[in-house]
Amino acid sequence: MRSARKREHIENYLKTSFQGDTLFGDVFLEHNALPDLNFNDIDTSVEFLGRKISYPILINAMTGGSSLTQEINHDLSMLAKEFNIPMAVGSQTIALEDDEDAIESFKITRGIIGDKGVVISNLSGQATVEEAQKAIDMINGDAIQIHLNPAQELVMEEGDREFKGIIDNIAAIVKNVDKPVIVKEVGFGISQDVAGRLYDIGVRNIDISGYGGTNFIEIENLRNHTYDFTELYNWGIPTAASLINCRKLPKDLNLISSGGIRNSNDIVKSLVLGGQIIGISGELLSYLVHGGYSYAKQYLDSLIYKVKILMILLGKKNIDELRSTKYRITGRLKDLV
Ligand SMILES: Cc1cc2nc3c(=O)[nH]c(=O)nc-3n(C[C@H](O)[C@H](O)[C@H](O)COP(=O)(O)O)c2cc1C
Repeated sequence: MRSARKREHIENYLKTSFQGDTLFGDVFLEHNALPDLNFNDIDTSVEFLGRKISYPILINAMTGGSSLTQEINHDLSMLAKEFNIPMAVGSQTIALEDDEDAIESFKITRGIIGDKGVVISNLSGQATVEEAQKAIDMINGDAIQIHLNPAQELVMEEGDREFKGIIDNIAAIVKNVDKPVIVKEVGFGISQDVAGRLYDIGVRNIDISGYGGTNFIEIENLRNHTYDFTELYNWGIPTAASLINCRKLPKDLNLISSGGIRNSNDIVKSLVLGGQIIGISGELLSYLVHGGYSYAKQYLDSLIYKVKILMILLGKKNIDELRSTKYRITGRLKDLV
């Protein structure tokens, strides 16, 4: 059942057509006509979870649990290894019941990336402390993502309807597992209020995963034959708004900017607005499924090349300098932050 659902998520993601808006277009960065820099001086490396990674890009949680998803995880892991960037596996719930094939589809990621790379576990907010520790141990995770997905569950016919107590659950996981916990959405964004409540229970890493990219209301609507949820396709907090509002919390809260990150502009703006790194899921999956490994690699190569170009055009030689870039907010985004 779960394994069929994972396959449908990928197939339905590729069928989605609704285009949301992250509102990164409302962020204005000023062009610098006199950058005192050479292209080869640009340094895109950053620290993430105590390791040096070459680019501030996370291959974000997608899949695992079956042979099709193992193939996808294999290729995503090869990309993570090749670019020296971190990767989060998809929800490991399916592998908690000791099904060796399912476990292997996740373990493959650590096997390919090796001990020096960053691999992140993933479970839902309903997980117990024991399950969270088991998911970490399964792949020697450097951290665990705990996903919050009420919108997705509610549109899924067989989804959860009980959300009481999740915050206490997360508090217990944060307190008891031996690796950092990253709480994430799946494309509807984290508000400042929710980020504050998570901060208060000790969460120091949030992946905002906002609105404007992968749309799980649409993905699940394509599987739900009882109700039509088209009117909810525009539900969610645009990624740029979620990021700016969560950034109002103390500096020791690390924010990952994800949800609709597709191009170099989105990446640079995310870092300027206070994202520690960015996460990409859907767009990379599209390149991989449509054109195979080399197409996905080419996409990442061109993304990185254009990020470097933008860094020159802002006169910033490394990511720390880039973070100090002044920006202006225009349009609808101005009303939301
Ligand atoms: C096919 C697919 C499967 C996903 N599965 C998971 C998952 O198992 N766990 C999770 O936390 N997020 C999952 N996500 C959500 C992503 O991690 C991310 O939060 C979301 O897609 C928004 O980013 P994007 O617009 O770059 O795709 C999935 C996304 C896609 C496209």
